Parts: sequence; C-alpha cells; structure tokens
Amino acid sequence: MSSQIREMKTRRKELMAQMEPNSIALLAAAPVKMRNADAEYPYRQSSDFYYLTGFAEADALLALIPGRKQGEVVLFCTEKNPEKELWHGRVMGPDAAIDELAVDDAYPIGDVDEILPGLIEGRDRVYYAMGKDDQFDDRVMNWVKVIRSKSKMGAHPPGEFMMLDHLLHELRLIKSSGEIKLMTQAAKISAEGHKRAMAVCQPGMHEYELEAELLHAFTRNGSRSPAYSSIVAAGDNACILHYTENTSEVKEGDLVLIDAGCEFGHYASDITRTFPASGKFSPEQKAIYEIVLKAQEAAIKAVEPGANWDAPHKASVKVITQGLVKLGLLKGKPAELIKKQAYRDFYMHRVGHWLGIDVHDVGDYKIDEKWRLLEPGMVTTIEPGIYISPDNTKVAKKWRGIGVRIEDDVLVTRKGHKILSTGIPKTVAEIETFMAKAVH
Ligand code: GLY
Ligand code: MN
Ligand code: MN
Repeated sequence: MSSQIREMKTRRKELMAQMEPNSIALLAAAPVKMRNADAEYPYRQSSDFYYLTGFAEADALLALIPGRKQGEVVLFCTEKNPEKELWHGRVMGPDAAIDELAVDDAYPIGDVDEILPGLIEGRDRVYYAMGKDDQFDDRVMNWVKVIRSKSKMGAHPPGEFMMLDHLLHELRLIKSSGEIKLMTQAAKISAEGHKRAMAVCQPGMHEYELEAELLHAFTRNGSRSPAYSSIVAAGDNACILHYTENTSEVKEGDLVLIDAGCEFGHYASDITRTFPASGKFSPEQKAIYEIVLKAQEAAIKAVEPGANWDAPHKASVKVITQGLVKLGLLKGKPAELIKKQAYRDFYMHRVGHWLGIDVHDVGDYKIDEKWRLLEPGMVTTIEPGIYISPDNTKVAKKWRGIGVRIEDDVLVTRKGHKILSTGIPKTVAEIETFMAKAVH
C-alpha cells in the first residue's frame, strides 16, 4: 500500500471516529461536465472525494459506515468492460479498487440503487453534503424512500440528516507532511512558469503568449491543469481583480500582473507576481510596488501559530494605508483612514485565503463569530495589492491604471511560517536584474 493510500485510510478512520454513533456518510464523485455538444471539460474529481479515496474516476460513490462488521468503507465504481474501455479509457474496477484504494468492499456503480438502501437501513443518521448537488440530493432521498416503503416490514429509515462538510473540512484544513510535499512541488512548478513568463516578456507580445509560457512550464513538469484560470493582466487590466481574458497586447510602460498556479497531485498553488513589461519600473510603479511588497512582508511576518487569522490582513492594511498617505493618494491620519476603511478604494480584498486541494480551500475562518487562531499545518496565501482604477479622477493622472499584487503560499509551522512559493524574483532589484539578464 502506498503511503498516500495509507494516509487516506487514516483520514477515513479519523472522520468516522468523529461521526455520531450509528451513522453513515455518503460522498459522490464529481459529475462529468459538458463543455459543448459531445465535448467534456477535463474531468476533476471532487476535492472531498479525492481527499478520502485518492480515486480520480467519475461515476463513483463512497459510503463510510463506522462499526459495520462486514466492512466500514464501501466504494461503488465503474465496472471493468474491455469494449467500453477501448472507447473511453481504462477504469480501475471494483476488484482492483479493494486492493489499490484499501477499501473494505467495492461494487459496480450500476448496483448502487439496489445495495445502498440496505446500507442506510437501520442507521439513525446520514451525513452528506446537503444542498450542493441537486441530483445527489434526489438520489439520497430516493434511497430513503425505498427504506420508508418497507417500514411496514420493520425497516427503519434514518431520522437525521447531517452536514458532512464541517467535520471533513476541519480535517482538510490541517495539512500533513505528505500534503505539504505536494503543495511545495506545485509551488515549485508554478515558480518555473512565472520565471519563464517574466523572462520572455516584451512589449508587443499578447497576454496569451505569456499564458502559454506558464502552461508550458506547468505541463512539462507534470501538472495536468492550472489550479484556476490564469490571470495575465497588462496595464489597466491589472486593476480588474479576476481578469482572465488574457487577450490584450502588452504595451511599453505597462505593468504585467500574473496570478497563476498549477495543480499538482490534486493540490493547488496560487502565486502572483507583477513586473514591468520593459524590465524597468517607472518611479510611480516602483513607489506603489514597494508599498505592496512591504505590506506582504509585514503580513507574512504575522503568520505564526496562535496568531489571529486577521493579524496578517491588519498588518497589510496598516502598511498600505500609511504608504498611500505618504504618496498623497489618501489624505488624513492613517489610524482614522483605517477605521473608515478608506484603503478599500485601492485594496478591496482580504490578504489571503486557505489553500489546499481547492485554491480557495475549505475550513472556517471564524469560530463562534470570532476569527480563528492559526495552527501548524494550515496553509494560507498572502496576497496584498493596490489597484488604482484608470477611472479614478480623485488621484493625479500619473497614478491611474497601476495595479500591483504580490502573492505567495505560506505554511504555518510550529515555530512560525514557511513560504512554499520561493525562487521567483520579488524585490524591484531582483525583478529588474532578472529581466535584464533574461535572454529574449
Ligand atoms: N487566484 C485567485 C486568488 O488569488 O484568490
Ligand atoms: Mn491568486
Ligand atoms: Mn489567492
């Protein structure tokens, strides 16, 4: 059994240990999504399902039944069929799944409606991700209906339905050393992409050409997909937070903001760098960049176990507000401007988010209405930014259209933190030197 599969087995045990007595948990694989006509989107397994199984195929269902003597972990998946596999590709099949995924039992997915009511019957509670997927909600209710229809014969339908998300997502929030290895590798591959794009960038290119450099580095290093749509935003486009068209020409004098990260082994990276198209920052671009960099450094410094989740954000707000006042872009006392949230005209998002199998990973940010405390094993992005809208007539023209974000992936360690996304030029001097040396 591989160490990864052993770890998934442990996760299932941990989850089952936290479930209420006499319950069952049901998880479905992600459905296949159609792009158009007969063309499918590349398949991506549900993050929860993958976390517990390591199984990447569609048309599968996992039942966790703590205390069941004949087996606690039951998987339903596509049956082997040489003729179908000739058309649609190889599948694992239930027999191999028992060994390869270390589950107790596995059945063909075609038998699920026949078998599952029997597994639910007699259990008091059903855990599942209620209200997420209409089709799955319907299927669960249909299985319950089958049990109800037999209640005169003594069948006992479940009395409670519980959200699975909370228990499972608290587990996912704390990353193991195996997960951190994958996330480090994802960040390392993404760093290659960022460096490649930075090295080849020249005015006159299009944003999509830089996107191609990212994809080239991601794919040739074993990533099968970006973790989210890459943002390659030149000039004014950098002020659109989720710009993904990537169709504009990169102009002399533009800043280029690239927010891109690959997915590796189902784990995301999420990195942003902003650099001058020509290789040299203008004085205004440099002034804004230096503030964002200082804000990022202050926020990263605030990442340590026991710190409030809001501490890094607060640190970034303080540096950005003070910096904008110094440049005359905000007027007033920093403390009052922070209270009034005046910085939000320029910095309108939070400093970061959990990162893991999902780019915006699961896990609560607040517990009992209060920001939670950071713990070793949590991974967060730290990504402050300043975006001066091209339409902002309240500021001098020379500032308009400057958009800067700097984003790294940061692990909370026992002693403080570790930046996972290293090796990409970040200071003004590092970027200018790197771009000057780059062979075009
Ligand atoms: N790439 C999306 C984000 O930074 O949250
Ligand atoms: Mn990002
Ligand atoms: Mn992010």
